Amino acid sequence: MHAIRLHAFGPAENLTYEQVEDPRPGPGQVRVAVRAAGVHLLDTALREGAQGPAPEPTPLPTIPGREVAGVVESLGEGVADLWLGKRVVAHLGFVLGVPPGSSSTGGGYAELAVTEAERLHEIPQNLDFAEAVAMIGTGRTTMGILQFAELGPDSVAVVPAAAGGIGTLLVQYAKHAGATVIGLAGGPEKVARVQAGGADLAVDYKDPAWPAKVRAHLGGRAATVVFDGVGGDVAREAVALLGPGGKHVVFGWSAEGIHDGEPYLVDGVSEQVLGPVMLGKAGGPDPVRTLELRALAEAAAGRLTPAVQRFPLREAAAAHRALENRGTIGKVVLEP
Ligand SMILES: NC(=O)c1ccc[n+]([C@@H]2O[C@H](COP(=O)([O-])OP(=O)(O)OC[C@H]3O[C@@H](n4cnc5c(N)ncnc54)[C@H](OP(=O)(O)O)[C@@H]3O)[C@@H](O)[C@H]2O)c1
Repeated sequence: MHAIRLHAFGPAENLTYEQVEDPRPGPGQVRVAVRAAGVHLLDTALREGAQGPAPEPTPLPTIPGREVAGVVESLGEGVADLWLGKRVVAHLGFVLGVPPGSSSTGGGYAELAVTEAERLHEIPQNLDFAEAVAMIGTGRTTMGILQFAELGPDSVAVVPAAAGGIGTLLVQYAKHAGATVIGLAGGPEKVARVQAGGADLAVDYKDPAWPAKVRAHLGGRAATVVFDGVGGDVAREAVALLGPGGKHVVFGWSAEGIHDGEPYLVDGVSEQVLGPVMLGKAGGPDPVRTLELRALAEAAAGRLTPAVQRFPLREAAAAHRALENRGTIGKVVLEP
């Protein structure tokens, strides 16, 4: 098969398109003919050598990629026949590569990927492969974030990076709940997309006057929630828009560098919701799967429609560069 491999940590150019041996499904596993593989900002940090949540550095060479959608084309021992030929989507685990002592695998940036059958979801009929892959990781995180804010007609939600993977979904969800939605994004093309995506006001936060524009639009109303994946000065200005009892829901700090940056936090106002916090609230015997099912159900019902930016698999390096340079809209997906 063809796959993208990383032989040395470093810049996007280190991602190379190669012919490699086909992976084999072990007991309890399936092999998926990949039609779409998800790309994350975190993948770019892992590519540079960040360890992320992995217990050990990634052994090299590795095939990156933690999310795939495709068709099941062969089964390992003990897997029910009914999966064969099914359109499926799966999150392959937290980290790039295969950390020792973990069954999580990377391997998504490839024509074929192997995963445990228990990670699979059948793709709802109305979703294509790229949309499904957008919902399995970015969608499940969005569902996790939304647990921390009650949204209704009295809500005023501020969404930085509103043209991004998570941002696009947050805007849609908040609008659907009846909230007033202020979307912030960098540059006119993104702002136009956020406005077209349903925000009541879309503002370019590269313009230092953006907070004044938001205040003018709100005419004395305060924001009730800021969904913050950006951090830094944007977060500070956005939190200043909150009224008494307002919430700052923090899930990232892309402006500060996701590898070594820090979130912007205010005592009594900010809540970091990543990882165990989000999973604790999702509850159930398998909270990760709970959030995945919720995300796919929202898309199946048509309440959430992920925006997707597609790149050919062989251009994974260009996809990484575009993400790092803030040049993407929606979820970034590789297609073999
Ligand atoms: N997707 C997930 O499953 C997940 C999970 C956990 C945490 N997160 C965090 O949630 C946040 C949003 O994730 P996402 O996957 O939806 O990403 P994304 O928003 O699609 O991509 C990042 C966007 O952040 C904005 N940004 C601002 N400053 C940046 C900088 N210095 N470098 C790069 N981007 C910058 C850019 O939008 P503008 O050009 O409009 O500013 C950029 O397009 C990130 O902080 C991420 O680390 C995501």
